[in-house]
Amino acid sequence: MTMPQRGFLRPHHVLALVLCVSATEDFDWTKNERTSFYYGTFPTGFSWGAGSSAYQTEGAWNVDGKGISIWDAFSHKKGKIFLNDTADSSCEGYYKFKDDIALMKDMKLNHYRFSISWPRILPTGLKSEKINEKGIKYYSDLINMLLDNKITPIVTLYHWDLPQVLHEKYGGWHNISMVNYFNDFANLCFERFGNRVKYWITFNNPWSIAVEGYETGEHAPGLKLKGTGAYKAAHHIIKAHAKVWHTYDMQWRSKQKGLVGISLTADWGEPVDISNQRDIEAAERYIQFYLGWFATPLFHGDYPQVMKDYIGRKSGQQGLGASRLPVFSPQEKSYIKGTCDFLGLGHFTTRYVTLKNYPSGAGDNYFSDRDLAELVDPQWPDPGSEWLYSVPWGFRRLLNFVKTQYGNPMIYVTENGVSEKMLCTDLCDDWRMKYFKDYINEMLKAIKDGVNVKGYTAWSLLDSFEWDEGFSERFGLYYVDFRNKNKPRYPKASVHYYKRIISSNGFPNQREVESWKRKAVETCSSSNQLLAADPLIGHMEMVTEIVVPTVCTLCILISAVFFMFLLRRRR
Ligand code: NOJ
Repeated sequence: MTMPQRGFLRPHHVLALVLCVSATEDFDWTKNERTSFYYGTFPTGFSWGAGSSAYQTEGAWNVDGKGISIWDAFSHKKGKIFLNDTADSSCEGYYKFKDDIALMKDMKLNHYRFSISWPRILPTGLKSEKINEKGIKYYSDLINMLLDNKITPIVTLYHWDLPQVLHEKYGGWHNISMVNYFNDFANLCFERFGNRVKYWITFNNPWSIAVEGYETGEHAPGLKLKGTGAYKAAHHIIKAHAKVWHTYDMQWRSKQKGLVGISLTADWGEPVDISNQRDIEAAERYIQFYLGWFATPLFHGDYPQVMKDYIGRKSGQQGLGASRLPVFSPQEKSYIKGTCDFLGLGHFTTRYVTLKNYPSGAGDNYFSDRDLAELVDPQWPDPGSEWLYSVPWGFRRLLNFVKTQYGNPMIYVTENGVSEKMLCTDLCDDWRMKYFKDYINEMLKAIKDGVNVKGYTAWSLLDSFEWDEGFSERFGLYYVDFRNKNKPRYPKASVHYYKRIISSNGFPNQREVESWKRKAVETCSSSNQLLAADPLIGHMEMVTEIVVPTVCTLCILISAVFFMFLLRRRR
């Protein structure tokens, strides 16, 4: 995920913000305002987990019959990914899933969220062409082993790795035919895994698929169709989600008794000046264009009114005969409405938002359609990714927004976490411990507000391929040494910290919670030493790679010389 509208964070905005922040008032949801810590525990049965996705972690990109995905193709093109990294081998999760389950077991996770690579089980994307049984077996074994270890699988069907053939032949999510192809793929997954998987997520973060894949082109398939690309892709994604939900509902639900949801990622948008109506409306637009774009159709049957108004008006000003935002027919609206058994919510950060008018005609696009500017408080901690500021109180507000806007749905937090930069090899990640502590605490406050949160997924289990940022940003609870061919995993201090939160099911009391950080730091220093020794191991392996072929070549050369020498003597 990259920061939306990086260009807007200019120093003068930041300065303006510093002045405005002091004018904002405290959160008025009665007690437990944003700076206080709430000691207490989560409801019994609350589910704790960690997450990953196929392309980011599996590696094994072209083995055992797997087809190529748009991310394989995109990352192999020069200049698309930071340092031209690819996830060809990444964490080698395909080979190491048993080790990874041991890590989860040690943390006493209740669930593990992972995704199925569509081209690993359908190499050309089409069920009618070829089913790759080796791919099916991989996921089947993974699911079985999770269940043997009492870890509930939460399975995402689409975490961005569309089969490349479907992009080449049809234009991917720009083409309505994806709806049926995705439905066939999902149906196959229900058929093969649905006796054991009870939580299905159709799409992960469709905002990112649409905006970064089809509008800005920062993500695969890299299309830059400004002003139309994202809306069209999103339209088909929403239809595909609804179709898959109906397929499950009609064909599988009564037998398998599972749930089908979607995972939407959204930042919180806070008005810069909460007494200024124009800022309040701008912040509302920010969320509606982000979360509401997908959530409103699924819960209420149509796009948010504000999106229809803004995009419609701007399209008119451009002289277009119709809105760039596609329209759902009445039948489609009722088909789409109510197709979410639970809402998966991904959340990482917050923005301040203020009104900014973009005159139509000058390069209309998704961002300018919103008529707003995003700002950040320079005091917010920003340890890793450029876009990710730690603002825990935004999480509680977003959760409450979901509750009031969509009728208090069942929520699973499907992603929440923080990164550090690639070069950071300190496993004593106190910034991550603090991030988890404070964000999880805000989630606890939201539950006390009445928000129906059933589970929490730390993002991510392992350091992994961070899309266009390559391996330069590490989100893992576990550090992965990518220099070493074996891709060893090392626990960061946050593993120990998260374990305590899980075993206490929350934050019992101040004295105990304060001792967690100290203990975690003590434990992580020994991991630091182990990791410090690792470059040697990594290096030795690389040398082997060079030495073996070199020795072979030398042997061949020597034999050839010796052979020629013998021949000469014979003559
Ligand atoms: C959301 C994406 O779903 C995930 O794949 C990514 O690693 C995180 N954001 C962090 O950027």
